[in-house]
Amino acid sequence: MKEGIPRPFLKWVGGKRQLLPKLLEAVECAGSFRRYHEPFLGGGALFFALAREGLLSARTQLSDINPNLVEAYQGLRDNVGGIIGTLKRHRARHCESYFYQVRGRVPPTQVGRAARLIYLNKTCFNGLYRENRKGEFNAPFGSYANPNICDEENLRSVAATLADVDIEARDFLAAAKLVRREDLVYFDPPYDPVSKTAAFTSYSKGGFGVDSQEALARTFVTLAQKGAKVILSNSLTPLTKELYKDFYISEVSAKRVVNSRGDRRGAVMEVLVTSFPITSAWRSHYRINGSAPTVAGMSGFERMLTKQWLAENNYQDVADLIDEVVDEWNKAGKQTRRNWWEVLAGTASGKPRTVAGRQFPVLRAAQERQGLPATPNAISRNQEESPPRIKVSGRWTR
Ligand SMILES: C[S@@+](CC[C@H](N)C(=O)[O-])C[C@H]1O[C@@H](n2cnc3c(N)ncnc32)[C@H](O)[C@@H]1O
Repeated sequence: MKEGIPRPFLKWVGGKRQLLPKLLEAVECAGSFRRYHEPFLGGGALFFALAREGLLSARTQLSDINPNLVEAYQGLRDNVGGIIGTLKRHRARHCESYFYQVRGRVPPTQVGRAARLIYLNKTCFNGLYRENRKGEFNAPFGSYANPNICDEENLRSVAATLADVDIEARDFLAAAKLVRREDLVYFDPPYDPVSKTAAFTSYSKGGFGVDSQEALARTFVTLAQKGAKVILSNSLTPLTKELYKDFYISEVSAKRVVNSRGDRRGAVMEVLVTSFPITSAWRSHYRINGSAPTVAGMSGFERMLTKQWLAENNYQDVADLIDEVVDEWNKAGKQTRRNWWEVLAGTASGKPRTVAGRQFPVLRAAQERQGLPATPNAISRNQEESPPRIKVSGRWTR
């Protein structure tokens, strides 16, 4: 079945069309958000799906390190008519020798370069963008009976969708600096290779090794602590399991087509990591493992979840009080892993606890969470509230 419009106008290695239903469920679980960020844009499968669902607000931030890819998006946004005209000319002359002629010459204008990239992407072998070490497009000709070189309706819809979007060529670290509290971020990095031979990280010159995967995991933690809602996909490997073990991890299977050899295609396991709990249809598959965070610095993540629950249930003043205390401790260089639910549950007899000179209210939900009896002085401001979860990490079983 053909997707609606706008849809990705390029076929991209690691394209996420297959994972889309799971990604959309994750976005649904993230709840409302301010701006959307996609720093490993590629073909932009999730971005276009969110656009089709009408879920994007103004000032969406898209980026990718590949300047040629980004230029194609910018070109479509700024001059879709020019690109369509050029693509029609390519379509009229399309054949193997014309393909190599276009491949061999980079045009001087943005419109020309954007149309060239779309044309080569639609007509090259396997339909995938590939660059050599010099950053030159090097995929060979693909013999398709009827390649869709100029999908005018979709290109116009893509251009209209991009009108309000900020799109730049940048590294994900620079892109992460633009993320604010309550923003939604989707990280879809080049995958950690399942085996050495399976590596396909050459989307552009550079590559994405273990150091980059680790830097990305640190960025994930920083943004989650900042109060952004973060989603990430990657391959299921010992490294990715270790890097994200304190977050919500779902294992999903997906068919890969990166390798041109048929025998190397097939189902591989991928992970979907979220900084927030998944509470929709997947909940019934969710196995709570009850383990406490173990990675140094992760206590901030636990605190973030606590604050998120408090804010959602009408206890923003209590969340602010926690921040006040933690800020004070940070300034004094004090490292702490305070369990705030223990504080908010009061003593065993229901008396309020005092931390750093401030008295904290006793919350009935916190008492329930800690397995303590409810006491008459405990407050419960939100009729709908259910006790917060005990865990910070878990895994969806299949
Ligand atoms: C898995 S693909 C993204 C696929 C995309 N989600 C889709 O639906 O087509 C990864 C992308 O990350 C980009 N990339 C690689 N290293 C990067 C970096 N350090 N910062 C930002 N983008 C990078 C690549 O150019 C590539 O387009």
